[in-house]
Amino acid sequence: MFRGIAMSKESLRDIQPSALESVDDFLRCMRDLRLWAGQPSLRRLQRLAGTARAANGDEIDALPRSTVSSVLRGRRVPRSEFVAAYVAACLRYRGSGEREIAESVEVWLTVWRRLCAMSPAVSPAMSPAASSAVPSVMAPAAFPAVSTAADESAPGGAWFGRAPSAWTPREQPPSERRPSGRTPGAAVPPQQLPAAPAALVGREFDLAVLDMQLERRGCAVPVVAVSGMPGVGKTALAVHWARQVADHFPDGQIHLDLRGSGRAPMRTEQALAVLLRALGMAEADIPADVESRMGSYRSLLAGRRVLIVLDDALDTAQIRPLLPGDSRCLAVATSRNRLSGLVARDGAHRLLLGPLDPAASRRMLIQAIGRAVDPGGARALDGIARRCMQLPLALRIAGANLADRPDQDIREYAAELERGDRMAALAIDGDESDTVPAAFDGSYRLLSPEAQRLLCTLGLAGRAEFTVESAAVIGGVGGDEARRLLNQIAAENLIEPAARGRYLLRDLTRDYARGRARTEGIGPPPALTSNA
Ligand SMILES: Nc1ncnc2c1ncn2[C@@H]1O[C@H](COP(=O)(O)OP(=O)(O)OP(=O)(O)O)[C@@H](O)[C@H]1O
Ligand SMILES: [Mg+2]
Repeated sequence: MFRGIAMSKESLRDIQPSALESVDDFLRCMRDLRLWAGQPSLRRLQRLAGTARAANGDEIDALPRSTVSSVLRGRRVPRSEFVAAYVAACLRYRGSGEREIAESVEVWLTVWRRLCAMSPAVSPAMSPAASSAVPSVMAPAAFPAVSTAADESAPGGAWFGRAPSAWTPREQPPSERRPSGRTPGAAVPPQQLPAAPAALVGREFDLAVLDMQLERRGCAVPVVAVSGMPGVGKTALAVHWARQVADHFPDGQIHLDLRGSGRAPMRTEQALAVLLRALGMAEADIPADVESRMGSYRSLLAGRRVLIVLDDALDTAQIRPLLPGDSRCLAVATSRNRLSGLVARDGAHRLLLGPLDPAASRRMLIQAIGRAVDPGGARALDGIARRCMQLPLALRIAGANLADRPDQDIREYAAELERGDRMAALAIDGDESDTVPAAFDGSYRLLSPEAQRLLCTLGLAGRAEFTVESAAVIGGVGGDEARRLLNQIAAENLIEPAARGRYLLRDLTRDYARGRARTEGIGPPPALTSNA
């Protein structure tokens, strides 16, 4: 919780955010800081913050007045550069010395990082290494260039949006920036990133968390794991971000589909061969055994700055041999698995991706429908989004169905989702592979038969939340066994661990589990009738 701010508080320590709970808290604390400083006008703050360099090289105000006002009135987490400039300007107004300003900026940025790293997206907080990457003195001229192009349609957009090409990771010493941008003598850099969705909807928070990984480069294990349930948008996010920051990796960007959710995940030796080829190794030179391939892979990456997207990984074991050794590289792994081993043993930073928020879900539906929606239809979209669990895959399918059936009233489709077989309604006519149940099938297959059975039974129980104890009763198993099976199901992101030892079973997954129970001939557990 932020410490409360009273106007009588004299000490700056009373204004520092000490911990955090929400973006609203953070913004409130920022407003309080201005009050504490003596309520400088926006014009004064703008002057005190100095200037920054824009993407096109122009010098611009580090803290434009209009932006300050919209950021402080808004509900979105501002960019770190904004926070640093704002805090420094308030403290300068109050007459603080540069040393105190630098320390305060450091505290605010640490809290900002924690805010970005906390639930629902990320588990561990940023490493100490990352926090030490912040320069101790944030003189305005030292601020990274500010985007003038990103997301400017929204008020204060440049401060929430991102233009990584204009943003140099601060910890990178100048000697590491090669003038040519490329490693001398390297083969033609691979540029394998596939197309991202034309317009990524939402995900500002998650993109900011990924941006922070650029700051960790050079000082930490270079891997970030994007984990989440089937169809939640892991690949879309990773590829979109990778395309945006490609400039930071002039020695190449590799995309490798590890096919973890399919029936034939890629084997390690096969994956290494593909990576070696991507890095320019001739077929005849690729060593035969896995160990030598790993050695050649790390040797080829040494001294290079390569971004490697390891998409749709099965688990930690599949990813581990493919991690670069050179901390100037960065691997972004996406997986339906929680990749806990990669976090615990390899120091990976994990981004747990949740469903979209309601506004982004509505936007995604409107985009997919691709035609004007009347006010009644627009209201029905929220219901559709809810029934799709705000899961991008489901939203895209619902949107595509509505686009294919221009005569269908949106309200009718919403009612169909509400009443009928939601899984059937979230299939695309004539496309059996790209459906919500097909996506869930891939994860379900990875569970042991006992865990599959428990998931089906929990689906039949129809509850949104349960504990180990209630799952044990519903599943007819012992407490330890229930915990083991729940961990297994949670590792595949089909249920979510929540506060106070509870687990969440989202309703789309519940529908899937119920359907699966029907297919497999699993009946309702006897415990259901005895109100477990
Ligand atoms: N934020 C977004 N904005 C626009 N489209 C999105 C977004 N997120 C996902 N999508 C679209 O939703 C669909 C599912 O997303 P994606 O394939 O990235 O999910 P995933 O989590 O990688 O799934 P899987 O677990 O099957 O690998 C794709 O068509 C993707 O383009
Ligand atoms: Mg994917």
